Amino acid sequence: MNIYYDPTQKVFHLINGQISYVIGILRNGHLGHFYFGKALHTNEAMNQSQFREDQNRGLTNYVYEGDMGFSLNIEKLEMPCFGSTDYRAPAIDVQMESGSSIIDFIYEDHNIYAGKKKLEGLPSTRYEDGQDVMTLEIKMIDPVMGSLLILSYSIFRDYPVIARNSRLIHQKSSSIRLKRLMSLSLDLDDSEWEWVQLYGDWTRERHIGTSPLHHGIQSIGSLRGASSAAYNPFVALKRSSTTEENGEAIGISLVYSGNFLMQIEVDGDERARMLAGIHPQGFEWILNEGDVFQSPEALLAYVPNGLGALSRTFHDLFRSHLIAKRWRNAPRPVLLNNWEATYFDFNEQKILDLAHGAKELGIELLVLDDGWFGTRNDDTSGLGDWTVNLTKIPSGIKKLSHDIVESGIAFGLWIEPEMINKKSDLYYSHPDWVIGDPDRRMSHGRNQFVLDYSRPEVVDGIFEQLIRVFDGSAITYIKWDMNRNITEAFGRGLCAEKQGELMHRYILGVYNLYERMIERYPNILFESCSAGGGRFDPGMLYYAPQAWTSDNTDAVERLKIQYGTSLVYPLVSMGSHVSDIPNHQVLRQTSLKMRSDVAIFGTFGYELNILKLSNEEKNEVTQQIEDFKSQRELIHKGDFYRLISPFNGGGNQTAWMVVAKDGSQAVVAWYQILARPNDRTTRLKLHGLDEESFYEVSGYEYPLSGRYLMHLGLLIRPSFNGIEHSGDVTGDYQSRLWTIKK
Ligand code: GLA
Repeated sequence: MNIYYDPTQKVFHLINGQISYVIGILRNGHLGHFYFGKALHTNEAMNQSQFREDQNRGLTNYVYEGDMGFSLNIEKLEMPCFGSTDYRAPAIDVQMESGSSIIDFIYEDHNIYAGKKKLEGLPSTRYEDGQDVMTLEIKMIDPVMGSLLILSYSIFRDYPVIARNSRLIHQKSSSIRLKRLMSLSLDLDDSEWEWVQLYGDWTRERHIGTSPLHHGIQSIGSLRGASSAAYNPFVALKRSSTTEENGEAIGISLVYSGNFLMQIEVDGDERARMLAGIHPQGFEWILNEGDVFQSPEALLAYVPNGLGALSRTFHDLFRSHLIAKRWRNAPRPVLLNNWEATYFDFNEQKILDLAHGAKELGIELLVLDDGWFGTRNDDTSGLGDWTVNLTKIPSGIKKLSHDIVESGIAFGLWIEPEMINKKSDLYYSHPDWVIGDPDRRMSHGRNQFVLDYSRPEVVDGIFEQLIRVFDGSAITYIKWDMNRNITEAFGRGLCAEKQGELMHRYILGVYNLYERMIERYPNILFESCSAGGGRFDPGMLYYAPQAWTSDNTDAVERLKIQYGTSLVYPLVSMGSHVSDIPNHQVLRQTSLKMRSDVAIFGTFGYELNILKLSNEEKNEVTQQIEDFKSQRELIHKGDFYRLISPFNGGGNQTAWMVVAKDGSQAVVAWYQILARPNDRTTRLKLHGLDEESFYEVSGYEYPLSGRYLMHLGLLIRPSFNGIEHSGDVTGDYQSRLWTIKK
């Protein structure tokens, strides 16, 4: 890994064993984007002429009078701006006091160093020791505006990934209005790409959608104040021939949890410009002299070998550089959450009984969900009052938590600190802490309103309440929920001209509370949640190493949700529980086996009244937990391979597997939703094994070679041949697991 600069050619080359990223300083001082893709040779001559040339394109506008060769509209650019000769969507938009929005940032100097800087107030990928990351910071200046623009590029030694961010520093007495500052802009030579996005809704999060690029602009984003279940802040670009195992793919992931925009523009020259960053809609930031605006970080990955490799790149990067070191190797506890077991209807004894029952089954953590505080007996009241409800928990949280821990199982608690019900003491004392315009009606979501986290006193107030519960308690896990999105986005603490700052300041406030809680309670494991997977993004993962993947706990529905989520996020980040039947979201009945066979590909836990299980079911659950514990390290740290997609071919089957990093073992899962009449025996081809090695496979008498397993595959026998049930798959909602050992 290295970053080279050729001062005569004015070319930067960021390179590791896998990728190259090449930037050049153009004749007008702007930065040209020269190359991103498979690593070039380090001794490749870096002449500008190898990457770009002047072109006289007839009816184009040119930068210099008397010169018909240099037009920004033809160049590939690093931080395109509007107002000169480029007519495509810009990455930066600023208005000066004069009213002018013409922008002209030119190269001033640069700095190359080992490591990377933490972004002020924002989550970003971390580095271990300075040896595994290098950073190039390029300083640009617009003297008329009086501002500096610092573009930062970090390259990771071990991953085909560039981390980018942009920072604007204003240095003039007249203020500027920042209207857009993208974290990343990527100009691509051609538009022969397919756009792969994760879309959905509550209980249908992160389904995979693929479409070819078309002329014009195509985008996803969020204006909800959270990254949202509607679209995830991730896009992959792939060739139409790219599969899970072969072909080029580019991934763009934004380390941000608020309003975002990811868009691609295909122009008449069949080139494509990708932009990713804070959504400009409603965004405006005033910078006075000395003010700095920091964009979130965007991650850009390139692989030549398929979507599976792209996913494994993000999984490894997130596990090694995003999730906090404290949790990187810590085994995630198997938990029991009381939500679907009791909803609001619990008391101290019920919680103790659940904890004791859970302990007997081998469960490691009892999570007390919504309803333990204030007057919270349903979803109409209590949010904002983080004091224990002594009618329900007479001993209080401190004593209850210690009692549970002493009985041999850890204790965790649910909070929703960004929200308020009108029926609460907090609303009574601080009605103005709510986001909303006092002259207008406020819309509600689940009877609740959003606290204005753009105001430091609101964040302070909630922090003070929370620490009174947590200090001295034996709490080692927090589920941090966020059950509605922002509407009527008006901040009563901001003056008129700063209203455009509300949404970004809100998420900065959330990050600030996370920072403070983690600093005070370094041994608490946070799980983020937003009505399930409504804020499952890299920004949250930086603070909360796992996220509740979806409120939908049905095993069949989870196949799509977990498969889609795996496009970017590692299994160790996905909260997944076995729940009751009929399932509470879709009323479907699946076997205890299938529910567990799906849930183990995540952090694993249970969310049902375990006390009501029959003895036979309890034995099965005990075995499931024991099996999971023996495979936990493999599942959480191994390489994930998707084998059959629930989004293809009618979606009746799904299969995936995890292979240990050292190749010594693997676990394979296959699922079928509906039985097929008169079915034939099929084969499931595996991936990621060593062709030359032999493996013991559960259910097989003789060892099988990697070649056999990957090129011929495991046998899946059908359910019913018309006369008898002979195969190993019978009926609807089936799953099979194989363990494989070298
Ligand atoms: C959200 C969460 C659930 C549960 C409830 C409690 O819906 O996603 O898991 O915590 O809130 O109100």
